[in-house]
Amino acid sequence: MQKLVIDGGVPLEGEIFLHGAKNSALPILAAALLCNGETTLENCPRLTDVFAACRILTHLGGRCTIQEHTVTVQVRALRSDTIPEALMQEMRSSIIFLGAVLGRAGTCHVSYPGGCELGPRPIDMHLEALRQMGARFSVCGGQLDCTVPDGLHGAVIHLPFPSVGATENVLLAAVLAKGETVLHNAAREPEICDLAAFLRKCGAKISGEGESTIRIEGTERLHGCVHAIMPDRIAGITYLGAAAITGGTLCLKGTDAQPMENMLPTLEQMGCRLYPEPDRLHLLAPRRLRAVPFLRTMPHPGFPTDAQAIFMAMLSLADGVSVLEENIFENRYRHVDALVKMGARIHVSGRTAVVAGVRALSGAAVSATDLRGGAAMVLAGLAAQGRTEVRQISHIDRGYETMELVLRSVGAQIVRKDVPSEGLLRI
Ligand code: UD1
Repeated sequence: MQKLVIDGGVPLEGEIFLHGAKNSALPILAAALLCNGETTLENCPRLTDVFAACRILTHLGGRCTIQEHTVTVQVRALRSDTIPEALMQEMRSSIIFLGAVLGRAGTCHVSYPGGCELGPRPIDMHLEALRQMGARFSVCGGQLDCTVPDGLHGAVIHLPFPSVGATENVLLAAVLAKGETVLHNAAREPEICDLAAFLRKCGAKISGEGESTIRIEGTERLHGCVHAIMPDRIAGITYLGAAAITGGTLCLKGTDAQPMENMLPTLEQMGCRLYPEPDRLHLLAPRRLRAVPFLRTMPHPGFPTDAQAIFMAMLSLADGVSVLEENIFENRYRHVDALVKMGARIHVSGRTAVVAGVRALSGAAVSATDLRGGAAMVLAGLAAQGRTEVRQISHIDRGYETMELVLRSVGAQIVRKDVPSEGLLRI
């Protein structure tokens, strides 16, 4: 087990290169399963979730090589249509393999995903959409068994909510299905567009991604391609947030402003000045951030739920009172206790959080509750007076590549340390 130790109060200053997006790399790795021939993914982030996806691919019969930020995948034939529970548990989003395995093998066996740190993680929309495409499901002993007795076929599908994962599973199942699939109320996230762009390079016929209705005309075969994963907009906003909360200046390289366009106006509202360039974005923070009257998370292009904790950390030091509303996940305020322990004044009632900005936070020992909640604690620690220790950082490593090295390169005093294990059994 490891922890991050942060001595706060240093304004960040310098340049950071933004890594590729986890939420784009994972479905694209699943999509590689559908391709005959070699797939090369560039700008692939080196994250524990990505390594877990590669282990799933290898288990299913693929050959995966990782060299620096390039992952090469070749799947000549599937060796298995079953993803063992241990591998499913390693990666929250492993259900994304369902559509791809079904598309390639016609059958798939996976353990039924349980809840996660963000609350229950139902997959009813995934299953209902795939059912309309000809899939049949049975659950026995916690295992989900899927078959497609007459092959996957196109369908007209209306999602009750624009679920990112369900949209991805439909895309993955539909590209090799017979006939046309029309998906209404699809998720519109940029990572969906990246997946569609990848599949199109492999020969898939897809249009409408980024809009509410996506059309997919099934093809017989997909081939491999070379694709660069889009920049990670949530990691990007986290690093901009780290500069903003410390009153620093930052140049974020490897991205333009576009992937973060639904978050940047809020940073400006808080008093940050932004200078976008074609391949980078500069941020200049004010002496003190300003509160935002109301910020609510919504499906894309609304404000993303993944940035809620990051902004809450910043707003806990802002001048004035901010009100946040979480509309995507049930259990996404678990970082609040840690921020309060550090001196923040936050009151949560249902899906609403009221944040009364304080002048200073103080360092404390806290534990990451989930990926973005953990990142929010790091941000708070960077700005706090004194020393903060963030434990349970395996959550953070799922989505940020060597976060401590990145932050140290712009002046943060942050180190990773081993936490001595206490021994599970004392006799
Ligand atoms: C993806 C992202 C995650 C982000 C989320 C919302 C990845 C790997 N993860 O997660 O970082 O926070 O989108 O932007 O891309 N739901 C159902 N039934 C379903 C599916 C979803 O009720 O069948 C609910 C979920 O419980 C949740 C909401 O819909 O409350 C949104 O979920 P969804 O968009 O599917 O998120 P993920 O794809 O899991």
